[in-house]
Amino acid sequence: MILSIESSCDDSSIAISRISDYSIVFHQKISQDIEHSKYGGVVPEIASRLHAVALPRILTHMDKRFLSEIKAIAVTNEPGLSVSLIEGVMMAKALSITLKIPLIAINHLKGHIYSLFLEKEARFPISILLLSGGHSLILEAYSHENITIIANTLDDSFGEAYDKVAKMLGLGYPGGPIVESMALQSRQCSITFPIPLRDKRLAFSFSGLKNAVRIYIEEHKARYGNLDNETIANICNIFQVTAIKHITQKMRLYLKKSTIQTLGIVGGASANKTLRGEIECLCDEFGKEILFAPMEFCSDNAAMIGRCGIESYNRNEFVKLENLDISPYSSIFKSID
Ligand code: KG4
Ligand code: ZN
Repeated sequence: MILSIESSCDDSSIAISRISDYSIVFHQKISQDIEHSKYGGVVPEIASRLHAVALPRILTHMDKRFLSEIKAIAVTNEPGLSVSLIEGVMMAKALSITLKIPLIAINHLKGHIYSLFLEKEARFPISILLLSGGHSLILEAYSHENITIIANTLDDSFGEAYDKVAKMLGLGYPGGPIVESMALQSRQCSITFPIPLRDKRLAFSFSGLKNAVRIYIEEHKARYGNLDNETIANICNIFQVTAIKHITQKMRLYLKKSTIQTLGIVGGASANKTLRGEIECLCDEFGKEILFAPMEFCSDNAAMIGRCGIESYNRNEFVKLENLDISPYSSIFKSID
């Protein structure tokens, strides 16, 4: 079995996965949403300290009989918040020394790709739309080792834009699920926000849209005072419609050219039901097969890190204790330019 650890941002998670059939034998996660909510975003110092409490707590919940069967420790070491990554990596090193088993370094984004293949065989080639709090990417994965970045964001990420809009509206953190549910309460309204990057570039941008929301809120407050519930719902709705239109316009450009038959959507923001629906329609139109991660495993979790870890284990991709470092940046994908 592989024991996997994820602590790249604000979720502490540990899993145990069986190498032979990919089954998840143990999985637990402790999120920090409540602690960060009053700040409207993740506070790194708080995140780090909470991981230091939560990771050992999860380990105590695990059946210790598994320990003798564990062949390697897979841990997220990039990209993410340095002070969060370090907590998981330190635990991985301590376990590796105690259990005398090797370490596997896992790229968090590659882990998200494997959320599509939990408890099953991986399939390549596959196009990936990865939307999270830190990233908005179109990737082409040809194999475990060969992954290319096709499109990136020029500024903010999709999930981050939801978080910032929620913060501006005083809705708490994480913004994605809150903005999505507020948007459902919206009725007809006259608000419009400009769709970003309406050109042929294969790239994303959310900072202009975020700014348009900020200006609308400021002007509305100056004219009418505090926002009522109906206005908040309308802002959430039009923001979401615009952000998803931007994604679908760029995905349309991509799918027109791509010869890969399968598209997977991953990352915390891939839990968004409106987004799922729109991309599903697009895939129907282009005759592509679509894969989603199970809802429970869209946001950060150690099960996807363990699934990726099995592939690395089968390829002997081990890292020496003294060479295992952390990085806030992703280092492993190729770029087309
Ligand atoms: O993958 P993830 O758990 O953490 C990172 O690797 O960043 O993604 C978290 C991000 C947050 O920005 C959160 O607001 C966003 O995913 N998110 C959503 C939804 N659920 C989570 N964004 C839009 N709609 C959602 N339903
Ligand atoms: Zn993530």
